[in-house]
Amino acid sequence: MAMTQQPLDRLLHDLDSALSEDAHGTRVAKLLESYAREAADWRRFAFFEATYYSRNLVRQTDLFELIVLCWGPGQRSPIHDHAGQRCWMAVLDGEVRESMFRVAAGEHTGLATGPVRTVGRGQVAFVVDDLGWHRIESHNHAPAVTLHLYSRPIRECSVFDEDRGVITRKKLSYHSIGGVVQSLRV
Ligand code: SIN
Repeated sequence: MAMTQQPLDRLLHDLDSALSEDAHGTRVAKLLESYAREAADWRRFAFFEATYYSRNLVRQTDLFELIVLCWGPGQRSPIHDHAGQRCWMAVLDGEVRESMFRVAAGEHTGLATGPVRTVGRGQVAFVVDDLGWHRIESHNHAPAVTLHLYSRPIRECSVFDEDRGVITRKKLSYHSIGGVVQSLRV
């Protein structure tokens, strides 16, 4: 008897070929959009964390990493870059706000604010460093879940420390891997 492929398995399979072939990423965005509109099997990767938005790894290969991010009310990312990699974000549940910034490194680090937009369920946003840095946050004090695809995987990124007005490096960790919550952040 043939086993029916789950939507997430199909997405992972299709991403593999789309990312190898498609330099512009439009097919990748379409795949993520259809998945976010129709599927629910991401729920087994969605673990919220009390104090900080959580990063839950679904799959990592040499080519990409796919992560479910859970945003509790009021939780937000720092202002950060993407270490030269491409980042697609599909909203799986709720709404998030994306704020764009230009960060000028130098003797005095400068921060210029850019456009802000709300991204709702089933919508896909795309960012690379040439477009700017960004911050993602939950919207309207309600929880949200997003699916992030980085190609290639990112282990560290640059963060703008708003209190000190300087750029720092941040190691990126996972709250869960493959649906299993980690006792220590890895
Ligand atoms: C993150 O990956 O921790 C932040 C979310 C993003 O860059 O889109």
